[in-house]
Amino acid sequence: MGNSVEGKICLVTGGGRGIGRAVTEALAKAGAQKVIVCDINDTAFAEITAEYRNVEGMVADVTRTAEVAGLVQTINEKYGRIDVLVNNAGITRDALIQKMEDDAWDAVIDINLKGVFLTTRAVAPIMLAQGSGSIINMASVVGIDGNIGQTNYAASKGGVISMTKTWAKEFPRKGARITCNAVAPGFIRTPMTEKVPEKVLNLMVGKTPLGRMGEAEDVAKAVLFLASDDASFITGQVIRVDGGLTF
Ligand SMILES: NC(=O)c1ccc[n+]([C@@H]2O[C@H](COP(=O)([O-])OP(=O)(O)OC[C@H]3O[C@@H](n4cnc5c(N)ncnc54)[C@H](O)[C@@H]3O)[C@@H](O)[C@H]2O)c1
Repeated sequence: MGNSVEGKICLVTGGGRGIGRAVTEALAKAGAQKVIVCDINDTAFAEITAEYRNVEGMVADVTRTAEVAGLVQTINEKYGRIDVLVNNAGITRDALIQKMEDDAWDAVIDINLKGVFLTTRAVAPIMLAQGSGSIINMASVVGIDGNIGQTNYAASKGGVISMTKTWAKEFPRKGARITCNAVAPGFIRTPMTEKVPEKVLNLMVGKTPLGRMGEAEDVAKAVLFLASDDASFITGQVIRVDGGLTF
């Protein structure tokens, strides 16, 4: 037991690279029976599935109801349970409000907000039937504090935090031991933040008490804790992993 995910069946959306990949590795190394990585194509998870025998890739776009249902059904048929769901898939399409096109709004809300809803809705009957589970949603400090140029992203992550709190209340209603928490990273070095200008990143590091950008592994460690039995009395929380950038 302890800080363990031994024997657990885990699903990580968008687990092919960046934070999702680090989460997948952390769960796999900690002894998960199987970590299923879903991503939009199979090249995204080719490396990680080759590296770990307890990591398996499945193609699914979290914005498509039928694909998500198929993914969850396949996992359930193969393994008979889902113990840990990490809703990690997410994108940015930044612009100042007056320049933000409809398609930038729609794309970000679709993946970051609706994708989390669709995936959790599909997994819910399985977790409720088994009477246990951990759901961990990837939010962002931007979903708490807002950020210039990120109207769509802030709205999506704020929504993720609200869904997290709703599910923390809703899932355990019939006595199920199901927890739901969010992790809110600050600026983390991943392919997503490669697009952010060096000047902005330096500015952020300057404002961060711990004086560096976060690494994907910093976030993965918090997710691993929340997925483990050690966190069984923690629910409805938003844990910031941002080096003290915000509080
Ligand atoms: N990097 C940061 O600084 C940072 C900060 C706060 C929050 N986050 C959040 O962490 C999560 C991961 O971010 P990252 O930096 O690792 O991003 P990333 O772009 O490096 O990785 C995202 C992964 O999600 C996959 N993905 C995208 N759309 C998908 C879809 N429709 N269905 C399935 N998979 C899809 C991508 O293929 C990719 O593998 C996101 O939710 C992001 O908003 C990141």
